[in-house]
Amino acid sequence: MEKTIDENKQGENLVIENKEGNKKKLFIESYGCAMNFSDSEIVASILSDQGYNTTQNLEDADLVLVNTCSIRDKAEQTVRKRLEKYNAIKRDTNPNMKVGVLGCMAERLKSKFLEEEKIVDLVVGPDAYKDIPNLLAEVEDGRDAINVILSKEETYGDISPVRLNTNGVTAFVSITRGCDNMCTFCVVPFTRGRERSRDHQSIIEEINDLWSRGYKEITLLGQNVDSYLWYGGGLKKDFVKATDMQKATAVNFSKLLELCAQAQPKMRIRFSTSNPQDMTLDVVETMAKYKNICNYIHLPVQSGSNRILKEMNRQHTREEYIDLINNIKRILPECTISQDMITGFPTETEEDHQDTLSLMKEVRYAFGYMFAYSERPGTMAERKLDDDIPLAVKKRRLQEVIDLQLEHSFDKTKSFIGKTVEVLIEKEARKGNKDWSGRNDQNLLCVFPKDIYKVGEFVNVKIISATKTTLIGEPVGYSENN
Ligand code: SAH
Ligand code: F3S
Repeated sequence: MEKTIDENKQGENLVIENKEGNKKKLFIESYGCAMNFSDSEIVASILSDQGYNTTQNLEDADLVLVNTCSIRDKAEQTVRKRLEKYNAIKRDTNPNMKVGVLGCMAERLKSKFLEEEKIVDLVVGPDAYKDIPNLLAEVEDGRDAINVILSKEETYGDISPVRLNTNGVTAFVSITRGCDNMCTFCVVPFTRGRERSRDHQSIIEEINDLWSRGYKEITLLGQNVDSYLWYGGGLKKDFVKATDMQKATAVNFSKLLELCAQAQPKMRIRFSTSNPQDMTLDVVETMAKYKNICNYIHLPVQSGSNRILKEMNRQHTREEYIDLINNIKRILPECTISQDMITGFPTETEEDHQDTLSLMKEVRYAFGYMFAYSERPGTMAERKLDDDIPLAVKKRRLQEVIDLQLEHSFDKTKSFIGKTVEVLIEKEARKGNKDWSGRNDQNLLCVFPKDIYKVGEFVNVKIISATKTTLIGEPVGYSENN
């Protein structure tokens, strides 16, 4: 595999991993969650063996793949707009270009896609990427091709991803696929299927390989990382039927974290996403034990109202969640915590909304990802509940949640002024800019003058000022981690 700096993107220090001798050009773009970006790297790897190198230039691509997201209606609209753009290019400049839809929209809409979107040649769901070479052969023969079969086993553990548009420093490593939680608002269990875990050995091998190629930070990815469980393969729900030997040697998430931290003691380790109903304190204790596991937990809660949590089928109460947060703060006093919130879930009253605001005041998250409820076809909420909160109300509540979060975020960033933090340099703050940008252990963005330092180095930075989302500092020397 050859590593080249992409000239168009040099300012952002993006590295393209391409294979010499590959003649066909793949343009692949991803929307939605980190898992989609990680999946696109798996697809690029599969296609690399079929003679495809990636290109940044849509106009001269032989194959265009869009990895799609269904989580909210807006995400789907964005993809439809992109399809219009591909259509225009196919019509005006590149009639031989083939177009494929991957990911959650492919899974949700299935063959409807081929009927609705005339330009689509190929529809592939998240568990069928290994079938892409066969599907492409069908397309070459002039047929539309589709595979949206969900799997109980596929984890792509045997595929070594081609890193796309990478900074050469940070990478995603997927550890579980699918989700069994069935939150009533969420389309993921339908589009990504049953939850399954990847062999820990292949995870460690991937991390070792990344380290040997100069990567310094990895994020373990799953819809619900805390429910990771490897006992030789199979669904989590079938663990009860496992043999005594399998049970004795099973690896859960805290054990996996420990194995990763030990395998590469200088590699920064992050993970996403944690689920309050599945997160156990042994995970937090493992975090405390290993310096290279970052002090940061993304712990979505969605609402501060017990009644709404129940309607959402979140399997915990507000009190249990606060209990977990207090335990995290006790075991890891430096740990930052972030949230996901949904405003305007069906039946949400002003009082429920106030409960969300009061929960936020109690936890004081470092940052968050906040959304107005978007009804998704096929989910329990869509089937059982009326989407009865007017859009204006959803949006007003969302703004209140965002405003409060920004207040808390600013308090958090300001609390670092005068302190020195270790930052891993990821890229230029802006293209052609004289500042570097990276994150500290607690996942806070930090910007500082380039000085003598380079991408991929760990630098101690003294924080001199802060915005609501960013620490601004001066470098004071290499950190001992280098
Ligand atoms: N466990 C997942 C959650 C996936 S969805 C993870 O790895 O992040 C990410 C976030 O999108 C959810 O936490 C939720 O806040 C939001 N979301 C999901 N479905 C939604 C919907 N129907 N409307 C609005 N927001 C939604
Ligand atoms: Fe979705 Fe809930 Fe799973 S938000 S991804 S069903 S944990």
